[in-house]
Amino acid sequence: MIKEEKNIEAKPKEKNKTPIIEIKDLHKTFGKDNTILKGVNLTVNKGEDLVILGRSGSGKSVTIKCIVGLIEPDQGEINVFGENILNISKKELNEIRVKIGFLFQSGALYDSMSVRENLAFTLRAHKRDLSEEEVEKEVIEALESVGLGDAIDKMPAELSGGMRKRIGLARTLILKPEIILYDEPTTGLDTITSREISELILDIKHKQKTSSIIITHDMACAKMTADRIMVLKDGVIHAEGTYEELEKDEDEWVRSFFE
Ligand SMILES: Nc1ncnc2c1ncn2[C@@H]1O[C@H](COP(=O)(O)OP(=O)(O)O)[C@@H](O)[C@H]1O
Ligand SMILES: [Mg+2]
Repeated sequence: MIKEEKNIEAKPKEKNKTPIIEIKDLHKTFGKDNTILKGVNLTVNKGEDLVILGRSGSGKSVTIKCIVGLIEPDQGEINVFGENILNISKKELNEIRVKIGFLFQSGALYDSMSVRENLAFTLRAHKRDLSEEEVEKEVIEALESVGLGDAIDKMPAELSGGMRKRIGLARTLILKPEIILYDEPTTGLDTITSREISELILDIKHKQKTSSIIITHDMACAKMTADRIMVLKDGVIHAEGTYEELEKDEDEWVRSFFE
């Protein structure tokens, strides 16, 4: 039944642009006058990876924290799956948040728990009625999807920076999110490990059909993962385009990211 309905709605590929996240006129000031966002507008379509570039402190993290309700904006609209999350109940917001994975910069694993326990803990916190066997199966599947099936019995202290990132990603994936927000996924990693993480982001998009926002200043990561890039400057989206378009943008400031 559901499949048939989907078929009816299917549109030609180039026209198939369903907005998954739509941010309209987003404003945020901290304290009395530390104005960070001055009317951000952006859209992420289904199946798309959007990269956000911007100088340090320009409000990139603030923007994506607004999407999951970690920061409350002063003004604007944030539509996720067609619902304005600023106008819904806590219960409705929680239902939407479960579908959004957030990969924090730090990875934030629990150091006293093994990899298995870290993942199982997250899964149980959201799906209380799973059996031991189901939890174990999901944990293994999530670890395999980041290429770390072998690390299941390791403690976080035994993992390299790249492995911690992957485990953090596995923990995000175990909840089967439809949207993943990546905050600086390759920061602090060496070039080769960064590349592996960027490949993984791409792989996840294709295999799990997720839509994502990726904040990065790793231009190799941006080049590999971005369907579109937006550049945040002075509280608004200053430029938008593909990697190839922005690389030769007429604005020197925009081009400077690509040098
Ligand atoms: N929770 C907060 N409380 C007060 N000010 C904040 C908070 N989060 C961010 N800011 C302010 O917003 C600015 C932009 O932050 P952020 O979005 O983290 O920058 P970036 O673009 O580097 O991710 C910070 O420099 C800080 O002045
Ligand atoms: Mg940040």
